Amino acid sequence: MTEMTDRSASTATSGGPVIDARDLRIWYGTDRGPVKAVDGVSFTLRKGEILGLVGESGCGKSTLGRGLLGLLPEGAKMDGQLRFNGEDLLALPKKQMFAKRGAELGMIFQEPLTRLNPLMRISEHFEETLKAHEKRIGKAEIERRSMEVLRLMGIPPTRFRSYPHEFSGGMRQRLMIALSLVLRPSFVVADEPTTALDVLVEAQIIRILHDLRREFDTSLLLITHNLGIIAEACDRVAVMYAGEVVEIGDARDVFAEPQHPYTRELLRSTISLASTGLNFIPGAPPDLVDPPPGCHFHPRCPDAMNVCATTHPIQREMKNGSRTQCWAADLRNGYAQDLTPEQTTPLSREEISVADEA
Ligand SMILES: Nc1ncnc2c1ncn2[C@@H]1O[C@H](COP(=O)(O)OP(=O)(O)O)[C@@H](O)[C@H]1O
Ligand code: SF4
Ligand SMILES: [Mg+2]
Repeated sequence: MTEMTDRSASTATSGGPVIDARDLRIWYGTDRGPVKAVDGVSFTLRKGEILGLVGESGCGKSTLGRGLLGLLPEGAKMDGQLRFNGEDLLALPKKQMFAKRGAELGMIFQEPLTRLNPLMRISEHFEETLKAHEKRIGKAEIERRSMEVLRLMGIPPTRFRSYPHEFSGGMRQRLMIALSLVLRPSFVVADEPTTALDVLVEAQIIRILHDLRREFDTSLLLITHNLGIIAEACDRVAVMYAGEVVEIGDARDVFAEPQHPYTRELLRSTISLASTGLNFIPGAPPDLVDPPPGCHFHPRCPDAMNVCATTHPIQREMKNGSRTQCWAADLRNGYAQDLTPEQTTPLSREEISVADEA
């Protein structure tokens, strides 16, 4: 069992965390057995805090984001504990969860273009969104609220009655964000909001995220493959591998001193992608129907020891304040001192390659 809180929880100022997730598990039923896409994830998120979530494709990031909002597809199952402003979301009937979504819980999706109706003016999008959640809202209020978020997104008020096709891709992305924010949700999940967009748009998004916090005190889970955005926009970062959060901590600490080898390799591969493009983590994330025993990362880990192939590491607090589950990090931080020399012997390459083929 992992300890449930990380450092930020203890420094929360008022009223407890906005999100308190404990030992969340989400799995998809398939012919081959359950796909354990989220496997025992715990974290908290304070008011106005931005938590970045990184990890290679297929590690469970989108599943976690959707699960937090009750947006999982049919056939997906979820258990554990999930509190939103103290309220147990998993105990809520579907209907109440639906009412919360959008109003208090927002999602910024990966593909904005499919979500804007080409036949509707931007003003009509705002009207529809606001009326769906606030039935009695009047025209003047709709306009006032819409203008407020459009300004925040850097879209001129003169464009309020334009159609989606009259905007550039980057602007449409910002319109989508504006549509999520007009309801003033207190928690937003943004899943890869900058995929396939240029550097200029990325810079804008980072600015928007900062404004968002300042104006609305929104808490945000920002899922991105882009570690640069995390470094610039996030307070904390969580690194996900094979359905688990393997490291979580203050973004500056994690970037300066990554404790988990996966975090370290991820940082290394990103840095070199910008320069040579040659450095990447060999192998691929495992099949989540049947992940490797012990530490799920052991077949790919340059630091793997014998113990890693047999025994799952426990999440513990490291000297820099982050929480990590890794035997090697444990040894460096004064834990797991009872491991035998046999257990701490580097895992032989043969064992690694056998595990890799499995
Ligand atoms: N609807 C689904 N049915 C079955 N498996 C799914 C479904 N959606 C995602 N998965 C699987 O769950 C795992 C995690 O996927 P996902 O959450 O999309 O990861 P990420 O966002 O990190 O790329 C993957 O193995 C993926 O194949
Ligand atoms: S537990 Fe072992 S295999 Fe896993 S990341 Fe740490 S050193 Fe590598
Ligand atoms: Mg995804």
